[in-house]
Amino acid sequence: MKGIILAGGNGSRLHPLTSVVTKQLLPVYDKPMIHYPLATLILAGIKDILIICKKGDDKLFKKLLGTGSEYGIKIQYKIQDNPNGIPEAFILGEEFIGDDSVCLALGDNIFHGHGLPELLQRGAEFVNTGGGAVIFGHHVKNPERYGIVKQGKWGKILNIEEKPKRPKSNCAVVGLYMYDNSVIEIAKNLKPSGRGETEITDVNREYLQNKKLRLIKFGRGYSWFDTGVADALLNASNYVQAIQNRQGLKISCIEETAHYM
Ligand code: G1P
Repeated sequence: MKGIILAGGNGSRLHPLTSVVTKQLLPVYDKPMIHYPLATLILAGIKDILIICKKGDDKLFKKLLGTGSEYGIKIQYKIQDNPNGIPEAFILGEEFIGDDSVCLALGDNIFHGHGLPELLQRGAEFVNTGGGAVIFGHHVKNPERYGIVKQGKWGKILNIEEKPKRPKSNCAVVGLYMYDNSVIEIAKNLKPSGRGETEITDVNREYLQNKKLRLIKFGRGYSWFDTGVADALLNASNYVQAIQNRQGLKISCIEETAHYM
């Protein structure tokens, strides 16, 4: 399985913080934001990673992370000229993905919790052995802000909606997705939504219609932050500070994560 980190976008919900600095280079307490999704992919067992970013930012990410050799992984970079939607990652990454499966991590999503590596590796295993897609869900207070998945009896996925006005559940689809190779073709055939971008929720809906969508839920013992707005960014920093200072253990330290794996 290959890994992609989507680190493009204008970060408009964080202006003026992101007017000249890209969001994924902002600090989350003691590390640049991109370290967190990178650690997530490494914990999933992924070693071949593509960072998709805006023109000019590739130089900065390269300065920070290089080729990945320091961490025993391989990092490549690709420019996204305009943010046309999350699924564009699979079109820009087509050559990089090749015939493989792929895990997409949104550059502003942070995960922490006991047993995270096992959970992520289980998702990768599902896709690599049985095909289809794996999405991850987490209970949230503000479901109208996210992709929302509704389950029925025995955990069957009934539907999935992007930022619904009247959410049918509190289970948000987090910014971490695992797909078989057919995601490239699915992404190519998507139509833009009302906000003029293609939607990752439409990709997931396609897998759902084909009965190939699986949901893994993060339980209460996990924390998830989507740091795309100022409050969430501060909350994530405060969280990392509180846990690290109490335990004396780092969250998403890529050197440690790579060594552990
Ligand atoms: C995106 C997705 C949404 C998902 C969220 C997770 O929303 O469209 O389905 O729940 O990421 O962070 P965005 O934050 O780009 O508006």
